[in-house]
Amino acid sequence: MNGKMSNNELADLTRFHLYMYYYDVIIFKNISKKYGDNLVLDDINLTIEGGEFVSLIGHSGAGKTTLIQLLIGAEKPDFGFITVDDYNVTNMDRNTLQYYRRKLGIVFQDLKLLPKKTVYENVAFVMEVCETSDEEIKKAVPEALELVGLLDRMNQFPDQLSGGEKQKACIARAIVHRPRLLIADEPTGNLDPESTREIVDILLKIHARDTTVLFASHDNQMIDYIRKRVIMLHEGRMVSDEQEGTYELDMLKQVMNAPSQMVEIHIDGEDEE
Ligand SMILES: Nc1ncnc2c1ncn2[C@@H]1O[C@H](COP(=O)(O)OP(=O)(O)OP(=O)(O)O)[C@@H](O)[C@H]1O
Ligand SMILES: [Mg+2]
Repeated sequence: MNGKMSNNELADLTRFHLYMYYYDVIIFKNISKKYGDNLVLDDINLTIEGGEFVSLIGHSGAGKTTLIQLLIGAEKPDFGFITVDDYNVTNMDRNTLQYYRRKLGIVFQDLKLLPKKTVYENVAFVMEVCETSDEEIKKAVPEALELVGLLDRMNQFPDQLSGGEKQKACIARAIVHRPRLLIADEPTGNLDPESTREIVDILLKIHARDTTVLFASHDNQMIDYIRKRVIMLHEGRMVSDEQEGTYELDMLKQVMNAPSQMVEIHIDGEDEE
C-alpha cells in the first residue's frame, strides 16, 4: 500500500460522488395534464434538490394536488416526464411503482385513515404491507408517534381524535418507514392557527432529519413563517419560484392581479432550463 488510490478505486469514488450528487433530485420536464378539455397543468418545469423544503401554493383548483398525483405516479401526464433519482415516474411498470412508492411518505388531502384500526395500527399497517419484521415495527411505530406527539393517543380510533390529531396520525403513518421524500397535501386544511403551527413544526422537524419535503398549502401565514422555497401555481401554470418566499411578496400579488399576458412576463424559473 503506498497510500495512492488505484484507478478502479478512483472510478468507484467518482461514481459514489456522482450518485450522492444526484440523490433524490426531482425533475418535472414540460409537464402538461388535461382532464377532458380542462388543461390542469400547463408546461411545468421544475427541479427540486434532495433535502429541500418546498411549499406549493395557489388557489383552489390551481393544480397542486394534480401535480402531486403525477409525482407519486397515480396519474399520467399528457406530455412531459418526471424523474426522481433514476426512477422515470411517468413510465413505470407496477412493480417498479411499488418500490418507488416505498421511498415516499404521502399525507393525502383527504386523510384516508382506516376507521376500524387504532392510531398505532394505522401507522403499523404501512410497514406490515411492506413486510417489515415485527421487531422493526415495534421500534419504528412508537418513534414516529412520539415525533408527532401522539404517543399517548396510540390506542384511540380515528373518530376519537381531533382534526389536528388525525393529521398528526397521517404524518406518523407517512414517515414511519423513514422516507427520503415527504409529500404533504394541505395537511393543515381546516385546522385552527395553533394546530396548524404544530403541524408545520412537525414538518420542519422531519425536514431537519434529512428529508425532502413538498408541502402544498393555502395558508399564507404559515408560508411566511416557514420562509423556505415557495412555488406558486396559478391556473395550472407555474407563475413564481422564490427561494425564501413569502405569500405576500409584491411580485406574487402582481402576478395574481395581472392579465394573462403579464403572467408570461413574470414567470420565474425559465432560467432553470
Ligand atoms: N380526477 C379528476 N377529474 C377531472 N378533473 C379533475 C380531477 N382532479 C382534479 N380535477 C380538476 O383539476 C383542477 C385542479 O385540481 P387540483 O385538485 O389539482 O387543485 P388544487 O390546487 O389541489 O386545489 P385545492 O386547493 O382545492 O385542493 C380543478 O379544476 C379540478 O376540478
Ligand atoms: Mg388539492
